[in-house]
Amino acid sequence: MKLWAGRIQQEADQRLNDFDASIHFDSRLYKQDIGGSMAHATMLRDCGILSPAECEQILAGLSGILRELESGELLIDPESEDIHTFVEAELTARIGEAGKKLHTARSRNDQIALDLRLYLRDESTLLIAQLQELIRVLCDKAEEHTETVMPGYTHLQRAQPITFAHHLLAWAQMLLRDIGRLTDCCGRMNRCPLGCGALATTTYPIDRDMTAQLLGFEGPVLNSLDGVSDRDFCVEFVSALALVMTHLSRACEEIVLWCSWEFRFVELDDRFATGSSIMPQKKNPDIPELVRGKTGRVNGDLLALLTMLKGLPLAYNKDLQEDKEAVFDACDTVKMALEAFTPMVETMAVNRENMRAAAAKGFLNATDCADYLTKKGLPFRDAYKITGTLVAFCIENGQTLETLPLEEYRQFSDVFEEDVYEAIALDNCVNGRNVLGGPAGEQVRLQLEDIRDQLQR
Ligand code: ARG
Repeated sequence: MKLWAGRIQQEADQRLNDFDASIHFDSRLYKQDIGGSMAHATMLRDCGILSPAECEQILAGLSGILRELESGELLIDPESEDIHTFVEAELTARIGEAGKKLHTARSRNDQIALDLRLYLRDESTLLIAQLQELIRVLCDKAEEHTETVMPGYTHLQRAQPITFAHHLLAWAQMLLRDIGRLTDCCGRMNRCPLGCGALATTTYPIDRDMTAQLLGFEGPVLNSLDGVSDRDFCVEFVSALALVMTHLSRACEEIVLWCSWEFRFVELDDRFATGSSIMPQKKNPDIPELVRGKTGRVNGDLLALLTMLKGLPLAYNKDLQEDKEAVFDACDTVKMALEAFTPMVETMAVNRENMRAAAAKGFLNATDCADYLTKKGLPFRDAYKITGTLVAFCIENGQTLETLPLEEYRQFSDVFEEDVYEAIALDNCVNGRNVLGGPAGEQVRLQLEDIRDQLQR
């Protein structure tokens, strides 16, 4: 029997049920739904709308349901329309009359808006903990590699030397911002829609501040139409998650490259690599490829939410039921991705020699050579031109800036002296960039300390 049997006189067609029901995905909100109902019942009692005895029965009934759902003793009936209907029907089956009073001064519209906020609040705690763990892993790895010189790239062309630590901490900075975005979003989301009712609150003298407080919200949502139809928090949350995936995906792209024989900068631990069914030599980076691939799903979830919302009049419309699968999929995908990505990075072997060898080829010290001339008084543009010509000469003659004899240097400018070799030595190029945010060991160690400080807070 449907909740609305009365106005609707005929039994629902099975095809309506199949299409309309949300139980197969919103059942995961049972904990939030029951928690919200407990706060609602407590408030109804304090406002004199439920008797203390009725409230007691409801609370006891709901705790029993929660306990049995957690232990697996009670299974969610897949024939229920949604989680709200299931909990109410189960409660009423257990405690009778009082159960039928729980929905006083409430609608499923404010109920679902509440459940989803509570759910995302809980999820954000888990996600932030996972991101912090990854940042910790990146910091530990960075600490081992403050002297590991590698090429820094622009346009995927060798550009200037950096260290592996500097590169890893760039990833850490992105993830710190992700944590900031999730935290911001939770701050704005932390308003309670309970009491908004279907759309226009209720005629009962309820206390919305009380339910908001009981559920740990900063306060109630201040417009009932907005309270039941706002899904900004879903968009913001999934948008923050899409950026998390984007960051992971960019890192994954680099890891995939670094694993190739063309680079051989890192090697994945055997436990986090896969093989081929036909090519016996293969060691494939499936994890980073899948993380990169799954980024598309989360972007899709974000677009689904935005598109679902764009034409909706106030207040509740059934379209809003489509929010949940997008939000759940985004959360599940990011959690799963982090679950695999973090230990993969933690266990991957770093090939210092190959990184250094790559940094030693490709004229990564050309800027330093130009800077050398500039420091001796030449305008940068002239120094740039001289060095460019010098590099072209070296390429033509199979030389490097390190191996070119001083007499040859002096053909291009008589400003060059013996000390040019020191100025263009790889380690000096890195450690000479001792500017805030730079790759010099000293700066990277300061950055590391700052990131660890932020994690502590
Ligand atoms: N299952 C619904 C949802 O997810 C709950 C709210 C139902 N409200 C309604 N008026 N049909 O949005």
